[in-house]
Amino acid sequence: MAPLKQIGVVGCGLMGSGIAQVSAQAGMTTWVREIDKPTLEKGLGRIRKFLEDGVAKGKVTAEDRDRALGNLKGTTDLGDLAACELVIEAVVESIEAKREVFSALDRTLAASAVLASNTSSLSITEIAACAERPERVLGLHFFNPVPLMKLVEIIRALPTSDDAFARAKGYVEQIGKTAVVAKDTPGFVVNRLLVPYLLDAVRVFESGVASREDIDNGMKLGCGYPMGPLTLLDFVGLDTTYYIANIMFEEFKQPQYAAPPLLRRMVFAGYLGRKSGRGFYDYSKA
Ligand code: CAA
Repeated sequence: MAPLKQIGVVGCGLMGSGIAQVSAQAGMTTWVREIDKPTLEKGLGRIRKFLEDGVAKGKVTAEDRDRALGNLKGTTDLGDLAACELVIEAVVESIEAKREVFSALDRTLAASAVLASNTSSLSITEIAACAERPERVLGLHFFNPVPLMKLVEIIRALPTSDDAFARAKGYVEQIGKTAVVAKDTPGFVVNRLLVPYLLDAVRVFESGVASREDIDNGMKLGCGYPMGPLTLLDFVGLDTTYYIANIMFEEFKQPQYAAPPLLRRMVFAGYLGRKSGRGFYDYSKA
């Protein structure tokens, strides 16, 4: 299968900007669309900063940074993505928002183009049902921080064609990441295992077994995890984890997916982790 030359990303938030960055770094002309200019500029600024930091750390050459930025095309017009061979949607986790994007893309793109969603919680089959050609829809689930995490989950919706799947697999290889293939069930592979672990860490903390630092150090130093679970919860976002847990609980009705009371209350209080300045730890001075 020929390598992809032009791809699109819808949404330039934390995940979308990372996806656009790795695609541009891999040499593809990468259109990234945001809803308005200030939001687009914020996302593009995040990419520039990541590449600058990479140069400062000696991980990215100045030539690679310039080439990547040259491949990146920001826009607020979905019509600019018309010639893209693959478009990855990374907008908010709402089926209404996805439905709007997928039906617009369906009308705009060539019939051979592949449409992917980076959703971590919604059903890919439900998203595919928003498109007139559901056979070209699948999931490409990235991990945060996208430029550093080496995995992408590929999720086949019930109608996904072999051709769309092969193109998506080729794209993951092109950006130098490893693919794992998962069925369209809540949490796919990684969140299916990760979310109950994070919820259990909250239960352990809530029941007073150990301090937050000792829980985190236990898993970091005892198991070699890069971050302890409470630090990871702050990193992923308590609201995001709570949202995914609720979807998994709704579908499976099993206690390991039930959000513990403390998590629920922290979300009510707005203690969402790094993004709100406070979660299990305090980031207000960071
Ligand atoms: N450009 C290029 N390379 C960079 C870079 C940059 N701007 N910034 C950092 N790096 C490199 C570093 O040089 C370093 O490379 P080496 O290992 O070769 O030395 C590496 O990236 C790690 O960077 P740091 O040393 O600065 O940071 P760290 O060691 O503290 O690691 C981390 C940071 C990668 C985030 C690590 O803590 C980690 O892996 N945490 C777990 C993250 C995780 O689990 N993510 C998944 C969340 S779940 C999800 O996303 C799915 C969902 O649906 C919710």
